[in-house]
Amino acid sequence: MAQTKSSGRRSAKSNGQTSAGTAAGNTQLEKFFGDSLKDIYWAEKHLVKALGKMQKAATTEELQAAIGEHITQTQEHVSRVEQAFEILGKKPQAKKCEAMEGLVKEGESIVEETEDGSMTRDVGIIVAAQKVEHYEIATYGSLVQLAKTMGQNEVADLFAQTLEEEKQTDQNLTDIAENNINWEAEQEPAEAEQ
Ligand SMILES: [Fe+2]
Ligand SMILES: [Fe+2]
Repeated sequence: MAQTKSSGRRSAKSNGQTSAGTAAGNTQLEKFFGDSLKDIYWAEKHLVKALGKMQKAATTEELQAAIGEHITQTQEHVSRVEQAFEILGKKPQAKKCEAMEGLVKEGESIVEETEDGSMTRDVGIIVAAQKVEHYEIATYGSLVQLAKTMGQNEVADLFAQTLEEEKQTDQNLTDIAENNINWEAEQEPAEAEQ
């Protein structure tokens, strides 16, 4: 069993340079960080395609536009991860993210199970998309903190921008749902007229 270490409450915030001087990938934390980058790199690239499908499947122009805007941001997220690899002196490499694959599959089955052109379809897409955003928010929140801990402030700044965009997207989706989609979906009969 791993030896218990006291946390010592050293604040990474205070100096941001706790591991300065170590080459990228030399500590266990740096290796872990590198693996996390591969994971989110795969996830963001996978999302560019998945969001395109969600956008096509959406009923309202409002939701299509919101997803469209986030596709553009997601392409930028991919390039920020590439920049992070570069800053750390690594070649961009993707490793399948099982969690994101699962979230996207769930979104695809929601699309299959809801009627084309229905407001319930949009409710389902928003629910699926928000699960994706929350996964990304958790990931980037951690990556920003870890980058600061390792003294990689440039990487931390990059991911802080992405984190902000993921949070904003989550909020936009909530607003769209609350403004009318949820209410309209609630009025939809369970079976379409033949
Ligand atoms: Fe993203
Ligand atoms: Fe996102």
